[in-house]
Amino acid sequence: MIADHVSARRSEIIQSLADSLKEATGRTLPVQEAARRCDVIPGLMHQLLLPLAAAGIVTLSPTDHVTLTELGAALHRDVPGPMWDVVIQGAGLASWQATSQLAEVVRSGQLSLPGGQRSLYGYVKTLPTPEAVRFQLVALALAAEDLSRTHTVVDVGGGSDTMLETILMAHPHLGGALLDLPHVAERTKATLARRGMADRFRVLGVDFFEDVPVVPVRPGKVVYLAADILPHWSDEHALRLLTRIHNAMTGTPGSSELWCVARLMSDAHEEVRTLGSFEDVHKRTANEYALLLEKARLVPQRIKSLPSGVHLIIATV
Ligand SMILES: C[S@@+](CC[C@H](N)C(=O)[O-])C[C@H]1O[C@@H](n2cnc3c(N)ncnc32)[C@H](O)[C@@H]1O
Repeated sequence: MIADHVSARRSEIIQSLADSLKEATGRTLPVQEAARRCDVIPGLMHQLLLPLAAAGIVTLSPTDHVTLTELGAALHRDVPGPMWDVVIQGAGLASWQATSQLAEVVRSGQLSLPGGQRSLYGYVKTLPTPEAVRFQLVALALAAEDLSRTHTVVDVGGGSDTMLETILMAHPHLGGALLDLPHVAERTKATLARRGMADRFRVLGVDFFEDVPVVPVRPGKVVYLAADILPHWSDEHALRLLTRIHNAMTGTPGSSELWCVARLMSDAHEEVRTLGSFEDVHKRTANEYALLLEKARLVPQRIKSLPSGVHLIIATV
């Protein structure tokens, strides 16, 4: 019953989004404005837009604008409500792109997929997921920050598809280090070597609850980046990690900043939490993050909105 209601409301919002974008110049609006026109809180709008972007119905920009694609513009108000979900979930980018190969399939009698792919699974793996869309947008937004006075970025829990890579590509003067669990670090090193990025930054296998090392860095400001880390941990664990980062920052010559990337919970989010719209385990408000940082003797400085509904929380020692 609740699921039906949510699905109907979702279809309604998508329809009104498509209508608003069709009327807008260049079929583009800032996400905030799109949310206002659809009468949705911006945080929820971002949740809705990521799957639409992954399905090729809209595109999202690092400046937090949403644009209706040709495909999205073809969706018509006359399509009955529940069809929207079929269109978006059942017919994602894979299906849409595959239709263009139909003539070739008929001609050759062989499975033919975009990019000459022969394996359906291989092809689907190349398509963006909502998480990949968000990752890319956030990485580009971080890369667009003013890093002219920063010399090193330390990506704490950087993973193997790394934001650090995007940041360093945009700032040739920057050096970097990535910390992750040893088995992940090995994977990351192999990926970087394949992409010819192995010389751009060091990859260290560490348990960040035990140690956040002060990596030898060039003189100048150091940014410690913790992207999508804290939302996965309880206050107790988050505090332990922040304390390790604090120690590394105080041991770092020159100035340093901590950049935490996380989704902030608002009261409105709290209301819809029960509908299962958010998957992070430990959602916190801006105040809760501030308290956590202060407990680790870090000083919250400012919070900035990033695209796709996440925030950059900046703190110093
Ligand atoms: C949700 S991912 C975030 C990855 C990346 N920062 C991003 O934004 O995509 C969390 C990362 O933390 C790493 N991690 C988890 N526990 C860790 C630990 N105890 N020490 C070091 N890294 C850890 C995981 O291996 C993973 O790469």
